[in-house]
Amino acid sequence: MAGPVDRALRERASAVIPGGMYGHQSASLLPPDYPQFMRGGRGARVWDVDGREYVDLMCSYGPVVLGHQHPAVEAAAAEQARLGDCMNSPGPVMVDLAELLVQTVRHADWAIFAKNGTDATTMCCTIARAQTGRGKVLVATGAYHGAAPWCTPRPAGVTPQDRANLGYYTFNDLASVHQAAAEAAPDLAAIMVSPFKHDAGYDQELVDPAFARGLRALCDATGAALILDDVRAGFRLHLGSSWEPVGVDPDLSAWSKAIANGHPLAAVLGHDAFRTGAQQVFVTGSFWFSAVPMAAAVATIGALRDEGAIEAMHQLGAQLRDGILAQARSWDLAVNYTGPPAMPYLTFVGDQDHELAGVFAAQALRGGAYLHPRHNWFVSAAMTGDDLALALEATDQAFAAVRKHLGQ
Ligand SMILES: Cc1ncc(COP(=O)(O)O)c(C=O)c1O
Repeated sequence: MAGPVDRALRERASAVIPGGMYGHQSASLLPPDYPQFMRGGRGARVWDVDGREYVDLMCSYGPVVLGHQHPAVEAAAAEQARLGDCMNSPGPVMVDLAELLVQTVRHADWAIFAKNGTDATTMCCTIARAQTGRGKVLVATGAYHGAAPWCTPRPAGVTPQDRANLGYYTFNDLASVHQAAAEAAPDLAAIMVSPFKHDAGYDQELVDPAFARGLRALCDATGAALILDDVRAGFRLHLGSSWEPVGVDPDLSAWSKAIANGHPLAAVLGHDAFRTGAQQVFVTGSFWFSAVPMAAAVATIGALRDEGAIEAMHQLGAQLRDGILAQARSWDLAVNYTGPPAMPYLTFVGDQDHELAGVFAAQALRGGAYLHPRHNWFVSAAMTGDDLALALEATDQAFAAVRKHLGQ
């Protein structure tokens, strides 16, 4: 059960926040032991409002990539805050950041900034439509691209018209994309795709390079934009777009989460071929030009590069994976451990309703590891050997709890 301070806050929240909490951070989606409210975090550790400490394997669902309160990022943010944040015009740091992103991400010739991933994915669609003069956008069935009416996974408040310009394909199934594209023709504006299939609650699926190349070829043949939704994976797998190692460059890409190590920022990056469309659309927001998150982003990208953070997350993630798989074998439990090492996900074979995943997560939490039963996890570059050892101690206890739950 959550602690007394958390319970008191939940009680107050239930009176003044619809449903007590909303969105992906609602603790109602998690086993009852999970706290709803957090007090703080440093490095790879977080504390809940009752003072319990956890090794953080969720990283705020992706934004925290270098660890909480990374010194260089926070110093850059504080220095900019002393000058100003939300002003009548952007600060020079906006140009610095756009230049840095254009240098860092191969397909990028320009950048536009916003606040959330949904802003970025929605803007990619708008730019593609402005550039091509066409309307239809193809997305993979089950993929998450944000919480606006065109893409939210929940039907409440959504009209058929909100989805009228979407077509659907199956991730890694090129024939299904060709079929959806043929149905959308001649009105195909864009194909949106995530770097790998990271749908919540399902085993993760890495991209087949032939599929990525096939999308590129189809977009080249039809003039539609290839949009990579790098909101979740961007700057966790590669210092560039997540498809650079695959050898496929999108025309437009959506970024947020890790771009400023937890400071609120999103970006659309694009190729010159889509610059005209990007210039035509009217996109803006009261807080989109705030200088502090941009200063944090410049420092984040610098630290990712200078501290070898991507490689560190890969290595730490591989150690976590090897440890967990060895534990699963020792408890004689059949699991699937999928996704890239820095963004893994664990399921129990045959655990359709996530019952065993819930038992596992609840016990891991009690043992001091904060992970998720129905969403991929995130490894940060701040994890130390001690953090990893503590996390693995917790997962070992968690496997023991699952074994006990199964009654053997
Ligand atoms: C792949 C992907 N696209 C878009 C979004 C939406 O981002 P945001 O929640 O910042 O609006 C998310 C958020 O989880 C995401 O994972």
